Amino acid sequence: MRLAALLSTVALTAWAAAAPAAPAVDYQRARYDPIHFKPQIDQATDAQCLACHAEVLVASVRPASPAGVRAAAAKAWYQQTSTYTGEQDTFHRRHMVTPMARQLMNLRCTTCHQGNDPRDETPLSSATSQHTGGFTLRKMVAPESTCLKCHGQMNYTVMGLPEPWPKSKAMFQDNCLLCHAAIRTNRHQVNYLNAAAIEEAAAKGGGDTCYGCHGGRAWYRTTYPYTRTPWEGMAPEVPDWAKGRANAPEARFRLTPTNHPTPAGAKP
Ligand code: HEC
Ligand code: HEC
Ligand code: HEC
Ligand code: HEC
Ligand code: HEC
Repeated sequence: MRLAALLSTVALTAWAAAAPAAPAVDYQRARYDPIHFKPQIDQATDAQCLACHAEVLVASVRPASPAGVRAAAAKAWYQQTSTYTGEQDTFHRRHMVTPMARQLMNLRCTTCHQGNDPRDETPLSSATSQHTGGFTLRKMVAPESTCLKCHGQMNYTVMGLPEPWPKSKAMFQDNCLLCHAAIRTNRHQVNYLNAAAIEEAAAKGGGDTCYGCHGGRAWYRTTYPYTRTPWEGMAPEVPDWAKGRANAPEARFRLTPTNHPTPAGAKP
């Protein structure tokens, strides 16, 4: 069954035009390919991962569930926002290839996947565990340092808003930039976001564009403790809630000459 799955994966490689040919290896060698683990995963390109995993970006939503509910007629709450477009799509495609994903984001396989050990998915419980620190129990990604950044609650109290955004937004013309044109202006300087495109989209789409990643699609009840990048006009005293915050993003996301966004055209 598993072997059949791998064979169909290899067959799909032909579909991924940009990807190099998958190395001809057996299932177990492929599964334990060192590219899955540190340190190799840190250097891996999307094309290398897609050589074996082309299926994760194939459109594969059923037109109807086995019980007959049509996908086109079944919209979840977060799919009814002004920024949601297009047909139902899969998780990986929503983050990597839909028009919105390409416009605002620049996520790579390794932005989320940092390596885990399929033999032992409990961190630090055996000699073969990955000592990455950021590895979450039985998860193939660390949600608290990836997903939470774009799917946490909006921390409206630190912003001095009287009520959560859906209730207070009318007071602020549904416009985050009323305040954020001058506050925390050095934002989104990371290799997995298109900072300029986000500001452009918000200038046209208003608060919903920003809220989409800062509360509007919250899968968590907690907030993410964002980097507090110094900005022009920032007061020297640090408010209590912000004590201990980083002032620059994690090293692996920083924009440096060697750690820049995937060049245009190199995307899957
Ligand atoms: C040589 C082929 C090959 C390459 C290259 C490869 N993988 Fe895999 N990967 C596999 C196989 C085979 C499995 C096992 C699949 C299964 O059990 O269904 C696997 C499993 C996985 C899993 C599931 C792990 C689990 O615990 O079940 C993830 C996530 C994954 N790979 C991500 C990646 C990423 C990200 C890259 C690039 C850094 C990558 N793979 C590169 C072949 C490969
Ligand atoms: C937005 C974060 C994110 C990105 C970007 C991402 N993945 Fe994943 N991936 C996930 C999550 C979350 C899961 C499910 C993990 C779990 O079940 O613990 C997953 C699951 C997988 C699996 C297991 C099989 C499956 O489909 O469930 C494979 C293989 C995989 N990803 C490969 C890739 C490859 C290759 C890329 C780059 C083309 C990629 N991922 C990009 C978050 C991501
Ligand atoms: C950099 C920001 C970012 C990160 C990190 C991120 N997401 Fe998302 N996510 C988005 C955006 C933007 C959308 C909406 C895309 C669209 O509508 O085309 C979305 C959509 C989704 C959806 C809805 C998919 C659908 O079919 O409607 C789910 C579920 C989801 N994300 C879960 C996750 C999980 C789990 C993680 C962590 C592994 C994660 N996201 C990481 C920005 C992000
Ligand atoms: C009334 C003014 C105001 C409005 C409107 C406003 N913000 Fe803020 N926001 C602030 C202030 C003040 C801070 C904290 C500044 C600091 O770091 O001292 C902040 C901080 C943030 C932070 C960082 C939070 C953290 O924990 O570090 C994010 C993200 C953010 N705002 C997003 C938004 C989004 C998205 C909107 C619109 C949906 C919005 N804000 C609307 C004033 C506002
Ligand atoms: C595609 C998802 C996405 C969109 C859209 C988005 N943000 Fe963000 N925002 C993020 C992520 C991810 C971070 C954390 C980046 C980091 O760690 O430096 C962030 C960080 C921030 C911060 C903290 C910056 C700092 O370093 O002090 C503020 C403030 C903020 N965003 C406001 C906004 C505003 C205002 C808008 C609309 C103009 C917006 N965001 C739109 C994903 C998004």
